[in-house]
Amino acid sequence: MEGYRKALTVWYNHAKRDLPWRDSPEPYHIWVSEVILQQTRVQQGTEYYHNFLRLFPDVRSLANAPEEEVLKAWQGLGYYSRARNMHHAAKTIQSTYNGSFPADYISIKKLKGIGDYTAAAIASIAFGLPYAVVDGNVYRVLSRLFGITTAIDSNAGKQEFYRLAQLLLDPGKPGDSNQALMELGAIQCLPSRPLCPGCPFLTECIAHTNQSVDQFPVKSKKTKVKERYLNFIYLHDESKLFLEKRGNRDIWRNLFQFPIIETIGPSTPEGVTGSKEWEELFNNSSIDIEHAYPEKIHLLTHQRLHIRFFSVKLKGNGLPVHYIEVEKIEIEKYPVPKPIERFLTEIAY
Ligand code: ADE
Repeated sequence: MEGYRKALTVWYNHAKRDLPWRDSPEPYHIWVSEVILQQTRVQQGTEYYHNFLRLFPDVRSLANAPEEEVLKAWQGLGYYSRARNMHHAAKTIQSTYNGSFPADYISIKKLKGIGDYTAAAIASIAFGLPYAVVDGNVYRVLSRLFGITTAIDSNAGKQEFYRLAQLLLDPGKPGDSNQALMELGAIQCLPSRPLCPGCPFLTECIAHTNQSVDQFPVKSKKTKVKERYLNFIYLHDESKLFLEKRGNRDIWRNLFQFPIIETIGPSTPEGVTGSKEWEELFNNSSIDIEHAYPEKIHLLTHQRLHIRFFSVKLKGNGLPVHYIEVEKIEIEKYPVPKPIERFLTEIAY
């Protein structure tokens, strides 16, 4: 393993990206960056990272912030439970550890939302502790390098990759060692069309030697994707629009949305405006259907959302009471799902 470690270190020292959190092994910074990067590419993640730290520069400010502000800072990143969990964990750090980050792996992992990956990343990068990280990059690099065909989504696979990553880890510099392996996956050993020339493991890599990089990593199951049909109604008058808060048992928990009609299968715009739900929603209010926008697809990990917007003008008063009336100029204060954010920027409301 010593040879692999050396080659990786040499490569990392000259190839690594200059990322803002790499200058400061401050645990709070590492935590924020790693949580953002779990599902977000570095370029977009970096913008959110700076913005998040500007709004919440330390654990205390995050712990004391209202949930809506935290969700707002997260708007557009998706996977909002990450933000809610961070908020919860910040309160725990504040109350249990007097605001300073716990410095051992077990305590770090007990914090809400922190699993094996994030705990190992914080422990190794911020505290220099010898815990290997295994993320999607690491699975890809190791499976190709050693030609491992065990499925990465099986228990046996998880154990095998974790053991291997732990063997490769340089205990003298665990933070750099972990980041080097992730970095190799992120910028060189790409999922499709990896940049094999320039890889420090070019001659050792089993997959490259066998010309089978596209067959790694191996997965056992295909993720099932559910189709959903969401019709959002941008209901407005001259100055106001109407929102409701989503519940907490579905996607976009606690975010705000326009009135919505979800259908079980595909439907035409007329099918929606002629439905019982539509009638119940407007309940004899005087309205003018301005426009039905064409359907757009929004992909989540396990759901394919078919989203259609209707622009509807409310004439006079008389809307069902449970909607929140919002002045149009105040909409930016409300955390909304990404498709609604996009819709609002596309229409000049
Ligand atoms: N992906 C997630 N965290 C990373 C890190 N610290 N370095 C490189 N890639 C990453």
